[in-house]
Amino acid sequence: MKQRLGRGYARFATNVAVRFPRLWPLVRPLIRKQFDLLAPVWDSMRSPDVFAPLEAALATVEEPIEAALDVGTGTGAAALAIAERFPSARVVGVDIAPEMVERARQKSRDQENLAFDVGDASALPYDDASFDLVTAANMIPFFDELARVVRPRGTLVVAFSLGPQTPIYVPSDRIREELASRGFTEFAEIDAGRGTALVSRKR
Ligand SMILES: C[S@@+](CC[C@H](N)C(=O)[O-])C[C@H]1O[C@@H](n2cnc3c(N)ncnc32)[C@H](O)[C@@H]1O
Repeated sequence: MKQRLGRGYARFATNVAVRFPRLWPLVRPLIRKQFDLLAPVWDSMRSPDVFAPLEAALATVEEPIEAALDVGTGTGAAALAIAERFPSARVVGVDIAPEMVERARQKSRDQENLAFDVGDASALPYDDASFDLVTAANMIPFFDELARVVRPRGTLVVAFSLGPQTPIYVPSDRIREELASRGFTEFAEIDAGRGTALVSRKR
């Protein structure tokens, strides 16, 4: 029951943030609290194929990747996967929930090319055009900020582990439309595992 309510709220907050980004501050506190509470059990809730769409999308990304960002990183699994795939890249994961970030840091203590920050995807604490690759897995897309931090010719991957069944989900038509209006092009849709990913490049 509690979990169903949580998933429902995540979907509601996603719809609010995508349709009315200015209302995000109203739904943000409960999202942060929800994910802080989930942090201790988050990894045990994830099935083995959860990052299949993201991994399939990463396999299409052109190298070299010098700097990569995983937005809404949770306990950092996607950021770790990126750091493993692109060992010479500097990889950052950012999440609004400090408890999630704490766990991501614990898991990656020995990794020099990987760092985690607490931050809000609606106002990312990074310079314009500072990443060659930006990923968002099961995460509310804040389009202005995603577009701002990807460098020209850089790649953005938006992935959902369960496709439309993912609690935080935005249809790919909507994502394409939002990204196209912010200078993204060369869209590729990927189905893998039980989910989907959209890969796009910035002009
Ligand atoms: C469904 S979880 C996904 C975590 C991870 N990407 C994964 O797939 O395992 C969504 C994550 O996004 C974070 N989040 C939600 N809104 C955010 C925002 N505005 N800025 C940064 N992180 C956010 C939550 O704290 C949570 O850790």
